[in-house]
Amino acid sequence: MQLKNSPDKYGAVTKFLHWFTAILIIGHIPFGWWMGTLPVSLEKVWHYNLHKSLGIVILVLVLLRILWRYISPPPPPPNTVKNIEKIAAHTVQYGLYAALVAQPVVGIIHSWASGYPIVFFNSYTIPNLISSNKTIADWLSTTHFLLGWGIAALIVVHISAALKHHYLDKDLILVRMLPFGRVRN
Ligand code: HEM
Ligand code: HEM
Repeated sequence: MQLKNSPDKYGAVTKFLHWFTAILIIGHIPFGWWMGTLPVSLEKVWHYNLHKSLGIVILVLVLLRILWRYISPPPPPPNTVKNIEKIAAHTVQYGLYAALVAQPVVGIIHSWASGYPIVFFNSYTIPNLISSNKTIADWLSTTHFLLGWGIAALIVVHISAALKHHYLDKDLILVRMLPFGRVRN
């Protein structure tokens, strides 16, 4: 198995990190919307802490992805891809990386400013580094809400582009990212 990316293929590490984080994030956003509708209860607190814990796991995975991207750069797009499409793809991909780092950081500081603890998977309480502040908490709550929708929109554009490459352009962009996709040398 090839771990690193090569000039025409994604390696196993990038593919694993891409699909594992994709599944987590696709579940995480609707979960965030849904948990807000729960009545105030211990169950609600439990679901909020699960959201916070998984959000921190996503942050670690995204930071690992960015680090791995430096160690093993992605294959360039095929020559058939137009310049404007390359610019659009980079904008969406860098936008996703930036938003997926910002969103959990905003979530963590929002929890601290609200005065609620972050109990990581019900086992370890992460120390609160700032004191409660309602103005900051309200502001960060709005930022977290808007970033959630921003990430959802970027994902829709990203998936549509991947499907367009596969079904309309019939190039290998999607196949080379699929877990068992094979690109011949
Ligand atoms: C990439 C990671 C994350 C994503 C995509 C995400 C997404 C969301 C979404 C879509 C909501 C619902 C927003 C609303 O309806 O107001 C939400 C709510 C929330 N999230 Fe996250 N979240 C992430 C990480 C985190 C982290 C790491 C924490 C804290 C440690 C956190 C804390 C919260 C809290 C406290 C709420 C409720 C906000 C409120 O009621 O004002 N989130 N999140
Ligand atoms: C939450 C969901 C997702 C996120 C956050 C995400 C994020 C990303 C990012 C940041 C990259 C750039 C990788 C690099 O550094 O070069 C990428 C590449 C890619 N993603 Fe996703 N992705 C998601 C879901 C999907 C899905 C569902 C598909 C397929 C339908 C997909 C197909 C691809 C493909 C084909 C590439 C390679 C593009 C290229 O070679 O230029 N992604 N993804």
